[in-house]
Amino acid sequence: MRRSLFFVVAFLGIVFYATAQNQPTLKDAYQGCFMVGAALNPAQFSGRDQAEDAIITAQFNTTTPENALKWEVVHPQLDVYNFSPADQYVQFGQEHHMFIIGHTLVWHSQVPKWVFEDANGNPVSRKVLLARMHDHINTVVGRYKGRVKGWDVVNEALNEDGSLRQSRWMKIIGEDYIEKAFRFAHEADPEAQLYYNDYSLENEAKRKGALDLVRKLKAKGVPITGVGVQEHVSMDWPTTDQIDATITDFAKLGVKVMFTELDVDVLPWPNSQQTADVSLNVAADPKLNPYPSGLPDSVQDALTKRYADLFRTYAKHCGTVTRVTFWGVSDKDSWKNDWPVRGRTNYPLLFDRNSQPKPAFNAVIQAAPKQGS
Ligand code: G3I
Repeated sequence: MRRSLFFVVAFLGIVFYATAQNQPTLKDAYQGCFMVGAALNPAQFSGRDQAEDAIITAQFNTTTPENALKWEVVHPQLDVYNFSPADQYVQFGQEHHMFIIGHTLVWHSQVPKWVFEDANGNPVSRKVLLARMHDHINTVVGRYKGRVKGWDVVNEALNEDGSLRQSRWMKIIGEDYIEKAFRFAHEADPEAQLYYNDYSLENEAKRKGALDLVRKLKAKGVPITGVGVQEHVSMDWPTTDQIDATITDFAKLGVKVMFTELDVDVLPWPNSQQTADVSLNVAADPKLNPYPSGLPDSVQDALTKRYADLFRTYAKHCGTVTRVTFWGVSDKDSWKNDWPVRGRTNYPLLFDRNSQPKPAFNAVIQAAPKQGS
């Protein structure tokens, strides 16, 4: 009796193990096509959020730090670097064999004021700002040399019309600040992949600006490896045709294409201009938060279809698209709950607030090219 019980338990154990092993995962489904990743927060890369860590280690083969490597976090004062969150992030990535991304070296946002000012609050010279940029890039990229494999070197340098944003980098240094940032990063780690990263590149005017920028950089021999299309999308923008054209246009310039910050906003958009500009801040209004206690089936179905369409489009360009990274792991921690309106309940990712896969997860797995085909 005891012997047969043993066999039953052993058999069930084997069945359970085999089933668990056969569960498709995102990284396996897209193996040979592109890497699949997520942006991580400190609770995840410190090991405090174990439910999320189980998802991350099972599903993803590349990670991006949501905030830990931004200038204001890693370099808050002139002579002060704060590496503890970033060190933890990189260690987590190494332990779990991730392709580790660094985000981001030169951005107009989340940079402390001191970077651009002297002790009296006056703007510094081009020479001083270039020296500060060099010190920052050399120190940060140098510290993680060989471990962080790809860097978002310059983030969001363009306006919607494709012209260069009049950031303080641009005003003080001039438009070659972009070229300098890439050269400094290459000098600090010649093996690292180096990216230009921006949102709304699917729109023609901004895309044209980015294409011109990449063309100019390449003509000057600037070491740019790829373009990150952030991909903070809604249910109907951009169209898959726009995404398709975006991939094709950048691929023609010989750069890798990545979708670096993917999420799908299901909530009403509060004004006419679709953007991911972090400075936008719209007043709360119950009309803008229609699903505080759960997503209606019809919207869940539409989200599922949207994700299937997106991944079918990316997968048409396997190899040209080298990475798709979600901006977060589950809905509970997404920045989309607080932007552009604070305190909403949004549903932008593949895992729900209890870290369970949503129907969109299966749709993304199903959209993968069949192995061997
Ligand atoms: O760390 C502080 C914490 O100490 C404080 O108590 C709390 C109070 O609000 O704020 C915390 O900082 C917040 C930080 O996220 C970490 O949670 C900042 O206020 C908040 O502005 C910051 O937002 C981030 C935003 O970039 C600005 O850096 C979002 O998490 C992050 O998802 C978002 O990511 C950007 C990409 O880097 C670039 N592309 C657009 C994307 C979405 O905006």
